[in-house]
Amino acid sequence: MNLKKKIIAANWKMNKTLPEGEKLRNQVLEGLKKIPHNAEPILFPSFLHIGNWQNLYNTTPNPPIALGAQNLGTEPNGARTGEISAHMLKSAHVEYVLIGHAERRTFYHEDNNSLILQKLQQAQQHNLKTIFCCGESLEIRKSKKTLEHLQKQLEPLKNLNNIHNPNILIAYEPVWAIGTGLIPDVKEIQNINTQIRKILHEIYLLPKPYLPFLYGGSVNEKNAQDILTHVDGLLVGSSSLHAEKFLQILAATQHKT
Ligand code: PGA
Repeated sequence: MNLKKKIIAANWKMNKTLPEGEKLRNQVLEGLKKIPHNAEPILFPSFLHIGNWQNLYNTTPNPPIALGAQNLGTEPNGARTGEISAHMLKSAHVEYVLIGHAERRTFYHEDNNSLILQKLQQAQQHNLKTIFCCGESLEIRKSKKTLEHLQKQLEPLKNLNNIHNPNILIAYEPVWAIGTGLIPDVKEIQNINTQIRKILHEIYLLPKPYLPFLYGGSVNEKNAQDILTHVDGLLVGSSSLHAEKFLQILAATQHKT
């Protein structure tokens, strides 16, 4: 992780066939050579693509984009149909994992701190950098319980407080902003960043160094530059599925250090 650069993470979610994924990845790689930027790009394709990514590593041992996984299992190996372990991911050049994404919490009932903690521990044990996602629903926001909610979601991280460099990045993704075209005011994002830091350092006693803070939820090529002035990076969903839009978001990092 290079904190002088902005982290721009692309969450492809459940999109792209094998050839489509390879094409998009190659377009991003080609585009990166041409655009000035100050980004550390990470792509989070589906597991299918992670397997296929190996053809890239065979020809380019250090590609300019890092590889991430959208999920990982709670156990090191064994009889867990449909799951994938940290160890398996590591063997496929995966450097990052997403943990606690709103869609996993909502659709797969993974809004459970002990399960999230198991995943975190697997990631830590295998030296996978974790983008830890949190964010409130519209209902919680309206009832002004956002901070309480974030504190609860962040609780699994307190178990990492004896680790000097936990390799964690925080992604604040309000549920009401994901895929809706709505985004919070940048001042609000800034305030949440301050509050999350307070929760982590003062309540959960997580040591410094500084944990990078990412924003996600309806980021696009038009709003990226403005948001980037207040955060260390972005987690981008639908706009990362189009090479041109994603490259414009990467280019938006060039003046932001
Ligand atoms: P979105 O998704 O950019 O499509 O809103 C962001 C995310 O879920 O990570």
